[in-house]
Amino acid sequence: MLDHTINHGQQPLKFCPFSTEYSANPYPTLERLREGSPLMFWEEGRCWVVSRHADVFGLLRDPRFTTDRRTWEFAKPSEVEARCPEYAEMSKHSLFSLDQAAHARVRKLVSPSFTPRAIERLRPAIQHIVDEVLDAAAGKEILDVTRDFAEQIPIRAIGAMLNVPPERQAAFHRYADAMIRQLFPMLIRPEEVDGNFASIREGIAMIDDILEERRQEPREGDLMSSLLQAEEQGDRLSRRELQALVSSLIVGGSETTVHLIGFMVLNLLRRPALMEQAKDEPELVKSILEEVLRFDNFTRLGLTRYARQDMDFNGSHIRKGQMMILLLNSALRDPSAFPLPDEFDPHREAVTSIAFGNGAHFCLGASLARLEGQVAVSTLLRRFPDMHLVGTPIFGPHPVIRKLDSLKVALHASAR
Ligand code: HEM
Repeated sequence: MLDHTINHGQQPLKFCPFSTEYSANPYPTLERLREGSPLMFWEEGRCWVVSRHADVFGLLRDPRFTTDRRTWEFAKPSEVEARCPEYAEMSKHSLFSLDQAAHARVRKLVSPSFTPRAIERLRPAIQHIVDEVLDAAAGKEILDVTRDFAEQIPIRAIGAMLNVPPERQAAFHRYADAMIRQLFPMLIRPEEVDGNFASIREGIAMIDDILEERRQEPREGDLMSSLLQAEEQGDRLSRRELQALVSSLIVGGSETTVHLIGFMVLNLLRRPALMEQAKDEPELVKSILEEVLRFDNFTRLGLTRYARQDMDFNGSHIRKGQMMILLLNSALRDPSAFPLPDEFDPHREAVTSIAFGNGAHFCLGASLARLEGQVAVSTLLRRFPDMHLVGTPIFGPHPVIRKLDSLKVALHASAR
C-alpha cells in the first residue's frame, strides 16, 4: 500500500480518512489539505481529492464531469448484473447516476412533488411518527439518540410520503434495509448476499404492486399517484423510473437524515445556553439545523464526479475517466467562504450552502430533510427539556458517512 503524505513545511500528514481519529475530528486534516494540497492525487483511493469551497462549488456545476460511475476508469461490469438483474436495471435509472438530458427529463417530472410547499403537507404525518417514537422512549431513563430516535424517523417518513399501507410496512423496511446495505457491498457477509438481493426483489415487486393499485385508484395528495400522473408535454415516467425514484429516496434520505438529527442534538447538548434558547424559539431550531449542515457535514469523504474528458484543472492534468472526490466537509469549513468556520454560529449570514449539493443534482429531498430535522429536534426538546449527555458519543467505522454510532442522553433531571 502506498504511503501518501502531505507535506508543506509542517510534520508530514498522512491522509487516513478511515481512521478513528479522523472520524472523531477530521477538521485539522482538512485544514492542512486546503492550505497545502487543495487538489491532491490520493494514491490509495486512486482519485483526486478537492478541498476548497470555490473548487468544490465550481466542480458541482462543471459539465466536464459526470456523476455516472460507469465513466470511472476502474469501473468494471459488476457481478450484481448476474445476481440481481432487477436491481442492476433499476440502478441505471437512479437520479444519482442519470446524466444530462436523461437526468433533466426525470427531474422535471418529479420536482413538483418535492417543493417546500408540497412537503409541508407531510408535517402532521412526520409529527405523528416523532411522537410515536418518543412515546416508546418515555419510560426510559437513558435514550440512545442515534439508535432509539434518529434512526427510527427517516424511513418511516419516506414510508408515510409513499403511503405504504400498514400490511406492507414490514416488507418496506426490509427493502429499505437491503437497499442501504447494498450501497456498501463490501460490508455484506458472503452468506448474506443472496438474502439481501431477495429482500430487494421482494421490495421492487411490492413497489410495483402499490403503483398498480394507485394507477387503478389514484389518491388525493399521494406522492405515487402524483408521480404516475406527472406529465410534461406528453412525457411520463416509466415503471423502471418510478421504481428507481423510490429507491433513490430510500438511499438518499436515510443515513443522511439520521446524521442530521443526531448531530443537531449533539451540538445542542454541547451548548447548554443555546439549548435553553432553542426550547422556546422554533425559528432558532431552523437556523441551528442549517448551521449543523455546514458544521458537521455527513460525509467521511465527499461527493464523487468522473471526468468526461482530458483537461487541465487548477494546474493539474486530469485524465478522462479519473474520479474526483469533492470534500464537502472541508469546503463547508473553508474560511474563504465562511468566516471563523470552526465556530458554531447559527446566526451566520446566509451563504449559498452546498450541504445539499448544487446544480443539476441538488438534493431532491432537501425540504423533507429540513422538515424532519425541525420536527424531530423541537419535539425532543419540548418533551425532555432536562435531557443531558451521558458518556462520550461513539463514532463508527462507516465507509462513507461520518457516523455517530451512539449518542446517549439521560432524559430526566433526576439522573444528573
Ligand atoms: C440532511 C439530509 C440530507 C443531506 C445532507 C443530503 C445531501 C444530498 C447531496 C449533497 C446531494 C447531491 C449529490 C451529488 O451531487 O452527487 C443529494 C442528492 C439527492 N438527495 Fe439528498 N440529502 C439529504 C436528505 C435527503 C432526503 C430526505 C431525500 C429523500 C427522501 C434525499 C434524496 C436525494 C436524491 C433523490 C438525490 C439525487 C438528486 C439528483 O441526482 O437529481 N436526500 N442529497
